[in-house]
Amino acid sequence: MFSILAALALLPTLAPRPADDVLALVPEPVSVVRAQGTFTLDAGTQLYADAEDIGGHSAAESFGLVARPSTGFALALGDLGAETPANSVVFTRKQADAQLGMEGYSLEVSDTGAVVRSLGAAGLLHGAQTLLQLFPPELFARSAQAGVAWSAPGVVIRDAPRFVWRGLMLDVSRHFMTKDEVERVLDQMVLHKLNVFHWHLVDDHGWRIEIKDYPKLTQIGAWRGAIGFGLEPKDSSAYDKDGRYGGFYTQDEIREVVAYAAARQITVVPEIEMPGHSVAALAAYPQFSCTGGPFDVNVPAGVHAGIYCPGNEATFGFLQDVLTEVLGLFPGPFVHLGGDEVPREEWTKCARCKKRMQDEKLGSPAELQSWFLKRIEKFVNGKGKRVIGWDEILDGGLAPNAAVMSWRGTQGGLAAASAGHDVVMCPNESLYLDHAQALTGEPLSIGGFTPLDAVYAYEPVPEGLSVAQQKHVLGAQGNLWTEYVPNAAHAEYMLWPRACAVAELCWTPRAKKDFGDFERRMDVHKRRLSYMGVHYRPLPPAGLDDALAFEGGSPPRVSLAAVIPGATAKISFDGSDPDKNGAALEDRMPLPNGNCRVRARIYRPDGNESFLVEALVVLGKARVRTTLGQEANNGLERAFDLDEASFFWTNRALRTDDHLTLELFGIRTLKHARVTTGDADKPLDRLQSGVLEVLPVNGEWKSVADFTDGKVDCDLPPEPIRAVRLRCTASQPNWLRVHEFTIQ
Ligand code: ACM
Ligand code: ZN
Repeated sequence: MFSILAALALLPTLAPRPADDVLALVPEPVSVVRAQGTFTLDAGTQLYADAEDIGGHSAAESFGLVARPSTGFALALGDLGAETPANSVVFTRKQADAQLGMEGYSLEVSDTGAVVRSLGAAGLLHGAQTLLQLFPPELFARSAQAGVAWSAPGVVIRDAPRFVWRGLMLDVSRHFMTKDEVERVLDQMVLHKLNVFHWHLVDDHGWRIEIKDYPKLTQIGAWRGAIGFGLEPKDSSAYDKDGRYGGFYTQDEIREVVAYAAARQITVVPEIEMPGHSVAALAAYPQFSCTGGPFDVNVPAGVHAGIYCPGNEATFGFLQDVLTEVLGLFPGPFVHLGGDEVPREEWTKCARCKKRMQDEKLGSPAELQSWFLKRIEKFVNGKGKRVIGWDEILDGGLAPNAAVMSWRGTQGGLAAASAGHDVVMCPNESLYLDHAQALTGEPLSIGGFTPLDAVYAYEPVPEGLSVAQQKHVLGAQGNLWTEYVPNAAHAEYMLWPRACAVAELCWTPRAKKDFGDFERRMDVHKRRLSYMGVHYRPLPPAGLDDALAFEGGSPPRVSLAAVIPGATAKISFDGSDPDKNGAALEDRMPLPNGNCRVRARIYRPDGNESFLVEALVVLGKARVRTTLGQEANNGLERAFDLDEASFFWTNRALRTDDHLTLELFGIRTLKHARVTTGDADKPLDRLQSGVLEVLPVNGEWKSVADFTDGKVDCDLPPEPIRAVRLRCTASQPNWLRVHEFTIQ
């Protein structure tokens, strides 16, 4: 009998898929086609790989290891025979599409199971990561999850990376991370198909790799008196029994990390800085400096004069011994020699360096630096390895097989690729993950402003390269310097989700990049990160900058805007991070008199995520805000703190129409405005061309005075206004300092 019920039962296959069934893969693959069917994992599902294929077995194990704690299924792994059994997950090189290369893969999911094919072990592992992401995010939990249907939708995916170098750099010199903490980062990388781990092992503030020939490098160079950088001692556990801060990796530990990475198809690139950033090495062996020392690892942040002496033959013996041990530990093709930020003054004063310049007919310390590097490079090449370094190494010429990391913007990358060198792009304005992720409310950082969308928008192939030159762009990487990153949890906060964006810009075809869709996928992906226990930075809801709603009057008042439905907030007026048990932000809460910094921590209704927002209130008159993304480095409020000595500093060249805005509480009639930019001794930091403008109640922005010599001191028109701003009327190559912004 044909009944209504039977007809209804057919409907689900015809109905549109529910929203939570939309795929959320990160990074987005080259091609995804939805197919019939659903594959459901159960205790009987079997994993298969080709007999004797270590890569295939490793990919299958990787899949099984993630799935086991959450599902409770100990998925058995066997050798694939002639037939593909039902209820199976298969990793095979058979019938792989050669066009997808060693890193690419195909993945088919149907009712009977999943099949990943690739020519390469890397491709099989990448396919495993994509497959994991097709299941509910709970799959990534590290404990049993009840009541979840472990189903993946039918798909046919073909995928391969855009770039071969998809990297993250981690600085373990400024703050140390243990071997286990580093391996956690590698686990996070593999999920995102990131495949190069650039390990910044030495710098002024710590030498972190055991060198058998030179034990003092780690006996002395690995330890500081304190955590440094003005950070809280309790924010780290990297102390020895005498309370010294630091740590290092034994050579056995290095080998373990390298093997751990290799099992995840990640190449480790060690960095041994020279000739600058070498205070820690010279604290241990000052005889390799020009002055003979002494040097102290307890130096503040910044660039230091601790540099090697290229006039001394023994320096090269030392560095070659060190590099011989290092190269023996890292099987990858590259060693990174640093080369950045070398203050060369010592060389101009050193008799041996002067003699070296004479003997080698070098006209300048810059040429001496180039000679130094080329000599080391020759040694490294003689050991069958390639050199990579920061873009300063381009100055003075390089061996053809040397590669360059473009960090001071993209110019270095452009120049290097044009000259036929391979390049890795990591321009600081886009890919420095030590920069702040929002203009306000963020933990202490080195400054800058590189939010998720700025990372995502980065395009690694610079404009102006021929098709042949473009092939020299190996890829890109995110760099995490750790001056202000005292522990692994904070490193994760800085890395994720921005490294998800790095992964996508390195992997996904340019034409498929779409930030809106990325945000949608990240909404699911962040749950995977949560289940993995990753301390990622919560993704802010749209409109968060306006979550504090102010109104004028006496006193002015603040309320919580409905940016997150159902949210609650705690508030403080003294700039402190509001305590979970502290004062609640109530509706139309009165502000205290005078200047204050309002901070609110807003909690999602489920309490799982919270967001800090902040506003500076000047004399109860105005809320200070930037209506255009200004890369505030020293904190915008410092332009408005009634102290001429402090300043706001943009961290980049100015563009026409950049502006700083004082938004008044309500409508006011003001009398006078005074703004000072630049310094007497730094006229470059002045606003070269700009105007002061007011926003009348019923009108458009209107200019009231031009800046002259970087200053404005003028009466304001006697009319009610809503806001005052400084606006640039021409671009200028230099950065801007704003010293004080006074209105009366
Ligand atoms: C660098 O940031 N000094 C490479
Ligand atoms: Zn010297």
